[in-house]
Amino acid sequence: MRIVKTRDYADMSRKAANIISAQIILKPDCVLGLATGSSPLGTYEQLVDWYRKGDLDFSGVTTINLDEYRGLDRKDPQSYYYFMHTNLFDRVNIDTARTNIPNGMELDEKKECDRYEKLISDLGGIDLQLLGIGHNGHIGFNEPCEIFEKETHCVNLTESTIEANQRFFETADQVPRQAYTMGIGTIMRAKKILLVASGEEKAEILKQAFYGTITPNVPASILQLHPDVTLVADKAALTGINHG
Ligand code: F6R
Repeated sequence: MRIVKTRDYADMSRKAANIISAQIILKPDCVLGLATGSSPLGTYEQLVDWYRKGDLDFSGVTTINLDEYRGLDRKDPQSYYYFMHTNLFDRVNIDTARTNIPNGMELDEKKECDRYEKLISDLGGIDLQLLGIGHNGHIGFNEPCEIFEKETHCVNLTESTIEANQRFFETADQVPRQAYTMGIGTIMRAKKILLVASGEEKAEILKQAFYGTITPNVPASILQLHPDVTLVADKAALTGINHG
């Protein structure tokens, strides 16, 4: 595992965008695994900026998102579909036919999960997977539980995740209770992982995830077994980790 310590959120975002940008330059037809949430927002902003300056070309890139709420329409401003379009896809020259997000409106769980796993495998796997980390150690929507889920599946969100995500909704009742997410196995099959984290409130979970016991109770702890993980985090998020 590589740890890249940054000054602050802006510095984290630039460095993470640099790594994604290098991936696109080295393999213009790469498959990028993407995440939503506050952590990657600045990274997307930076990528858009470099695209506008003519330094990045997304025309050959395929994307595959980690997760989506189940039951939210694409047009819903809280859907991850909407998030990805407003923050990245509609602002760069990506072919939207090559952008993939689980279909939250497909209520047949098995059908949707099988479709998504097959899609990733037909694409030849993920070259670089961008991740954030939840306060409880979740990655994607893989919540703490008894086992590491191998494949894309439908999850019931935990109270702590509903509470954390409530900030985007008017009331907690409006936060969907279920989501489709890539499994831990799906994420672990990505060739490279880039995890971004910022702020003191992520310090304790980063320490547990990267230096604690590998357990499905801290889903991100499995990343200790991945051969190519880069953690880009600001110094506030690294206070629990004694890193130069
Ligand atoms: C989002 C996702 C989640 C977030 C995590 C951290 O697609 O999969 O695992 O990465 O909840 O969220 P933020 O970045 O908002 O702290």
